[in-house]
Amino acid sequence: MQPRSYHIITFGCQMNVHDSGWLGAALETRGFATAPLEDAQVVIINTCSVREKPEQKVMSALGRVRQATGDDARVLVAVTGCVAQQLGSALFERSPQVRLVAGSDGIAQAPQAIERLLREPETRLALCAFTPGFPEREPAPGRLGAPSALVTIMQGCDNFCAYCIVPFTRGRQKSRAAGAILEECRLCIARGAREITLLGQNVNAYGQDKTGDGTSFFRLLERVAALPGLERLRYVTPHPKDMGADDVAAFATLPALCPRLHLPLQSGSDAVLARMRRRYDSAAFLRLVRDLRAARPDLALSTDLIVGFPGETEADFQATLEMMEACGFMSSFSFCYSDRPGAAATRFPDKVAPHVQHERLERLQALQDRLGQRWLDARVGQSTTLLLEAKSRRQGEPGGAEGPDAREDWQGRDPYGVPVHVSLPAHADHAGSLIPVRIIESRRHSLVAQALPPQG
Ligand code: SAH
Ligand code: SF4
Ligand code: F3S
Repeated sequence: MQPRSYHIITFGCQMNVHDSGWLGAALETRGFATAPLEDAQVVIINTCSVREKPEQKVMSALGRVRQATGDDARVLVAVTGCVAQQLGSALFERSPQVRLVAGSDGIAQAPQAIERLLREPETRLALCAFTPGFPEREPAPGRLGAPSALVTIMQGCDNFCAYCIVPFTRGRQKSRAAGAILEECRLCIARGAREITLLGQNVNAYGQDKTGDGTSFFRLLERVAALPGLERLRYVTPHPKDMGADDVAAFATLPALCPRLHLPLQSGSDAVLARMRRRYDSAAFLRLVRDLRAARPDLALSTDLIVGFPGETEADFQATLEMMEACGFMSSFSFCYSDRPGAAATRFPDKVAPHVQHERLERLQALQDRLGQRWLDARVGQSTTLLLEAKSRRQGEPGGAEGPDAREDWQGRDPYGVPVHVSLPAHADHAGSLIPVRIIESRRHSLVAQALPPQG
């Protein structure tokens, strides 16, 4: 065990990925360094409860920690995030190493709590109360020079979709003050970010809650897009019912806003959408897609889909497949419905048998593979720009490893967020550069490009 070292295991969505990044940075500010699991003094398990078997995942992670650390009682385990919020201090009973449980709003206090627990080996702390306002955190700058940054604009959700646990684990919607968001965006840009993704569970409803400061989502987008030095702006997750006309128009008027939108459909059947309490139907979704593409003809859409929601018939499922075709999603996340404690659908009749769910999921994913490949194939020959991230793990061109003409493979992202590989002069740090390229090949989930000479 190395003193003042930490290791983070992350499950779940981008908000969790971001929270883990912040926790790590806040610990590093306090002099901690990352370590492999078996050497770490502090182990953080940042958890998700959105789908199947979240508790088992946490239990098996706790088991792995006990094994890797040889049950060392000096190791401090913190369970944070959505399962922590759900189970609270009951998690102390699962492993003697667990001495901190921090829910959604409690994470903001976790770094101080960890310091205290290291000083007080007999103490255990549960930080599971929801705060009345957005829990502002100490600034913990991410990795210097990281080309893209995530910035949280809100916490929680008020929608209570019938299947979803998020309003229970993340609490009611709380908007962060626009000034604090802009300040963090400026800090990210000053540290080298060229791309910012704004994060929230229902971003278009930003500002429409008690803690909002009167700024609408569209106004916030405009203000972030105007920050000097920002090249690309994205956001997740929007809700179709809350996408206003100005949010749609932003795709035409804000050049920094990338032509890619993750727009969760969940189901193509109006009956299922109504039971899910999504508050839009397939016609409204198609109208929204049409308006978005009118604003930004090259807009690429991706989505989330649930199969086997209670009462879903084969005809309902077919309607989902038809909507996928009609919208031409470039990619999707798709899941079998599962009961979540507290969510309304848990009490709905006509649960769909697991083998039917799995069989539908397979058909849906086969269709998505075709739609995704069609979209990628159509990109071949197009010119675009890449924001370069890092060297590809793939080896460089054979024989090109040395000499002035040596080349290396780099990975970047195009404005649609697709990973693109490109061969570039070796021995230079290209991370964070934006370069013009032409797409020359499509692969299964990525593209290959050739660098073009920089324009004037
Ligand atoms: N706030 C986001 C993300 C919610 S969770 C949104 O509204 O889209 C991410 C995805 O998990 C959801 O979009 C949904 O497709 C899926 N999901 C949520 N609860 C689920 C459940 N009980 N069973 C299966 N999938 C679920
Ligand atoms: Fe869950 Fe619906 Fe809120 Fe998304 S909008 S977090 S699916 S309740
Ligand atoms: Fe999971 Fe919580 Fe995110 S339940 S999806 S980690 S909001």
